[in-house]
Amino acid sequence: MSIADLEKIAHQMVTPGKGILAADESSGTIKKRFDAIGVESTENSRRDYREFMFRTPAMREFISGVILYDETIWQDAADGTPLVKLIADAGAVPGIKVDEGTEPLPGSPKELITKGLDRLSTRLPKYHERGARFAKWRAVIDIAPGIPSYNALHANTHALARYAALCQQANIVPIVEPEVLMDGDHDIDTCYKVTEWVLKETFQELYYANVKLEGMILKPNMAIAGKKSAKRASVQEVAEKTVKLLKECVPSAVPGVAFLSGGQSDEEATAHLDAMNKIGNLPWKLTFSYGRALQAAPQKAWSGKKENVKAGQAAFAHRARMNGLAAVGKWSQTLEKDAA
Ligand code: 13P
Repeated sequence: MSIADLEKIAHQMVTPGKGILAADESSGTIKKRFDAIGVESTENSRRDYREFMFRTPAMREFISGVILYDETIWQDAADGTPLVKLIADAGAVPGIKVDEGTEPLPGSPKELITKGLDRLSTRLPKYHERGARFAKWRAVIDIAPGIPSYNALHANTHALARYAALCQQANIVPIVEPEVLMDGDHDIDTCYKVTEWVLKETFQELYYANVKLEGMILKPNMAIAGKKSAKRASVQEVAEKTVKLLKECVPSAVPGVAFLSGGQSDEEATAHLDAMNKIGNLPWKLTFSYGRALQAAPQKAWSGKKENVKAGQAAFAHRARMNGLAAVGKWSQTLEKDAA
């Protein structure tokens, strides 16, 4: 492992004004997204959709990295160019989701544990050879009466640390993603408390596993009220509480934090990131690693029709630009409306 190489890639992933496109939906998840726009999910339709995003000129300006699903990393574009090459040619780092989804956690059946460690040491070199320079592993923590349990926190953060150490050993930068879901009816302060506990445990486990913080990226949720909460928090409150939370928990050796959008609307996800960067004076870069908040608009505009590819690309370019501006605190609602 070369820590200098890992550090260089980690910094590239959080280049100011750029962020990460999470295009790593599993076949089940992308089918759900395609069902919603009336598109049949086939190997070719999944490829065509992802190919048009990777060929959007705005990639070069606003996207630092792309997270791929296993199927996609081995796919070629319609003209035979490997999709990883399209991404690298656009100046972005190709990455790969390596977790294998979740299953109920023994002893805490309402909670989930992420799978995929068993063969990871043999899979990582193959992804590296294909061009992946970073990876992603998502742990899921739910908030509901009586949960999360320490069992779920400990098992999930331990797995994240094992994964991160394996990645670094294979010269791959790990994105460490402990996601506290926003599905419940909890308020922002409950989310803050749970996320604080999760992040403290995560960095403790990373320390025990000897993970070099300089060569990783953290992908957390924001401090935000659950979707079913009656108590909404303002953009400023989300920004201030998330920055305070990260300052309490994330060592400054970590080069960057790239948030997940987690079910926020496109514009909320952008506004929150922008407000945090407007606070300024932060020890790490704060950017995006959005899936839904970058892709909902282009999916709708495209709707599986060849004649809509240009409209899909325009919608993707717009969201990429808005989030790129938010990553340096230069977004505004006027820009959002003007360019839409
Ligand atoms: P969302 O932005 O849709 O939450 O997806 C990001 C991601 O990669 C979740 O693992």
